[in-house]
Amino acid sequence: MKKLCLGIESTAHTFSVGILDFDGEVYSLINDIFMPEEGGLHPALVREQHLNNFMKIVNRALSVAKISVKNINLIAFSQSPGLGPVLKIGAWVARMLSQVLVIPIVGVNHCIAHIEIGRLKCSIEDPLTLYVSGGNTIVSAFESERYQIFGETLDLPIGNMIDSFARDAGLQHPGGPKIEKLALESKKYIPLPYLVKGMDLSFSGLYTSAKKLLVSTDFNKKYNLNDTAYSLQETAFAMLTEVTERALAHTEKKEVLLTGGVAANKRLQQMVEYISKEHNARFEVVPLKYAGDNGVMIGWTGILRYKAEGGHEIAETIIKPKERMDQITVPWRSEN
Ligand code: ATP
Ligand code: FE2
Repeated sequence: MKKLCLGIESTAHTFSVGILDFDGEVYSLINDIFMPEEGGLHPALVREQHLNNFMKIVNRALSVAKISVKNINLIAFSQSPGLGPVLKIGAWVARMLSQVLVIPIVGVNHCIAHIEIGRLKCSIEDPLTLYVSGGNTIVSAFESERYQIFGETLDLPIGNMIDSFARDAGLQHPGGPKIEKLALESKKYIPLPYLVKGMDLSFSGLYTSAKKLLVSTDFNKKYNLNDTAYSLQETAFAMLTEVTERALAHTEKKEVLLTGGVAANKRLQQMVEYISKEHNARFEVVPLKYAGDNGVMIGWTGILRYKAEGGHEIAETIIKPKERMDQITVPWRSEN
């Protein structure tokens, strides 16, 4: 039997367990996603849900994979970055399993995992990556032993910004897919603040202005919600595309990878594909099952690190809620 890894994702609203072998073949992936009834993510409520459910998720992943927990050879977990109280649960479950089973444990940076699963699933070697989700907006590529950050948000992450706007418009979480649908019904662009500072992005001015449109006396007279959704998307995605294109020109990478939950958006895919073609770069979107938060990406990145330098000591498995991906070396990759 091939060696198996059980990967645990627990940085925010998703508690997920993936089981895969050391060659990257996936045996199971089970997600449990916290859905707020109203407002944003309350770490205490997310933690409660994850604490109540983790064993069910682990057991379901084992039963779908048709294996016993005794067949697992490695435990990987998301160690950084994320919400402290939520990260702690994944770390605690991972430490427990590793100690009970007497098998190695590896802590993984969640953002790096988003890139590594893309490299695996899209058979892509050395991409410039645009990682866009509820909690992150990062343009990154491998250089000088690390995944360097070429551009990022200075305030609101893109997914969070769209979700907040959707909530203001009375739509339920997650707002991203609903805004995408509404935007398809419009071609009327309302000018909104476009803020790119150097290589970084700021979405708070855009958000505030879009929110004001919803309560203006012109709303449902001169323009409607579809037009607002369209204008919000066009502005935000043009900003993302501009920064991605400049990073592509600078790094001269020949592949572009789009990942994170917002990668599901067809309009964003279209815009990033366009600039990739302009630069003769191959464009790939991570399959949606693996683009959002998932335990398989954590497992795969754990396998890569384990193969390169073995497991972590238990003392090294403390959570690091603020750790950036460019603070970590990537020993399994070499310079091209
Ligand atoms: P991370 O922890 O990496 O920040 P996350 O917790 O936000 O991730 P993901 O599953 O990666 O989880 O992303 C969820 C986000 O993706 C939400 O903000 C959601 O609105 C957004 N999203 C999903 N589908 C679409 C879409 N079609 N268009 C725009 N946004 C989308
Ligand atoms: Fe994520």
